[in-house]
Amino acid sequence: MNKINTQTQPQPPKGWRSYSSDKLALRNVLLIDPAQNLKKRADLIIENGIIQQIGEITDGWDGEIIDGSKLIACPGLFDMHVHLREPGYEHKETIYSGCHAAASGGFTGVAPMPNTDPAIDNPGLVNILREKAVGFPVEVHPIAAITLGRKGKNLSEIGELVDTGVMVFSDDGSPIVIADLMRRALEYTNMFGATISEHSEDASLTMGGVMHEGAVSTRLGLPGWPGIGEEIAIDRNVRLAEFTGGKLHIAHISTAASLEIIRRAKKNGINVTAEVTPHHLTLDCSLLDGFDSNYKVNPPLRTKEDVIALQEGLADGSIDVIATDHAPHAPDEKEVEFIKAPFGMIGLETALGIIHSKLVLTGKLTIERMIEAMTSAPRKVMGLSDVSIKAGETANLTLFNPDEKWRVDRDLFNSKSKNTPFHGMELTGRAVGVINRGLVWIKDEK
Ligand code: DOR
Repeated sequence: MNKINTQTQPQPPKGWRSYSSDKLALRNVLLIDPAQNLKKRADLIIENGIIQQIGEITDGWDGEIIDGSKLIACPGLFDMHVHLREPGYEHKETIYSGCHAAASGGFTGVAPMPNTDPAIDNPGLVNILREKAVGFPVEVHPIAAITLGRKGKNLSEIGELVDTGVMVFSDDGSPIVIADLMRRALEYTNMFGATISEHSEDASLTMGGVMHEGAVSTRLGLPGWPGIGEEIAIDRNVRLAEFTGGKLHIAHISTAASLEIIRRAKKNGINVTAEVTPHHLTLDCSLLDGFDSNYKVNPPLRTKEDVIALQEGLADGSIDVIATDHAPHAPDEKEVEFIKAPFGMIGLETALGIIHSKLVLTGKLTIERMIEAMTSAPRKVMGLSDVSIKAGETANLTLFNPDEKWRVDRDLFNSKSKNTPFHGMELTGRAVGVINRGLVWIKDEK
């Protein structure tokens, strides 16, 4: 029986168009590839999806030419922490809608978390999700569950999952409660060179909490989720990483004290990496004053001091990766009493603009460090080969216009969900194209 393909051929996001990668040049584009210390303006020539040359287009060159004079081209952005909700919650997001959101945000690769129904805990499901992204210039590299069904009891078939190419495991959203299980997970994944990405939360301290515990939660009368609930879990997990020699990645850190634990661990040679989200880098808990559930996220938004510490930790490299924790929820789920709303906010279509506007243009982060934290750093944690802007390499690129001013409008998002706290914000810098897998999708400037 022939396999019926019910998915339509992916088309670029609204307002973008597709170009052939057979013979294409980006003329006079600023190339930035921090991993090779590359920062120069040149013509970038692509033939059959491969970077053919970095130099100058010769007279009479007969391929398609795109004016790159206002653009930066960097290695394709990779988001190692997204929720694409498939299978089980397709009303919030799908691989299809999530890949559109990713492309329009400038991402050429994403790693969906396994808190789906059923959980992504077996090679069959991993392969199905990867296949659903065929036809997009966005690769999908699922993170598989550490434990079967994310139930926190028995390890998944780690070896079989590694055989299919999975190199990061997480029960995201559900921390591993039993220390001995975390120990075995770190030992076992380490045998394959794989990494555990942990949502570090001690539920005995955070249960029932809906926002950062402090003066604001007291004033609003909302149950608090204290920083110590994260820090104590990171502390335990780092000690287990030291004990086992396993590779540990700390997902979405949110407090200054968590950062200090990571700094100390790195100094002591422990195999630990960390990520931070655009929202924890730019928003603080005072914004919850209006009880807008778009600000409800796990871990919660913290204090202004925490935000500044995280910005510094990212800038000095103590925090390796920027990841969005793109967590779509339907309007009827979010538009309820704050206390009852689910945790999470979307981030794929705003990440680049937020980081560029709020950190790069304010001098808190160099553009090179931003690019590194969104390209080579996450790929390294994911065990993926690096992407370089070099002749002979596959063209895997993000194009962005650092000067474009735009207003975030959730109604124009490609994501199925609208739960963003950034709606209406004026930003400078926007993704305008992605090139990967022989596909070229670029925003139409006409
Ligand atoms: O806010 C969050 N939402 N944090 C998580 O860890 C999970 C996520 C979700 O899946 O909605």
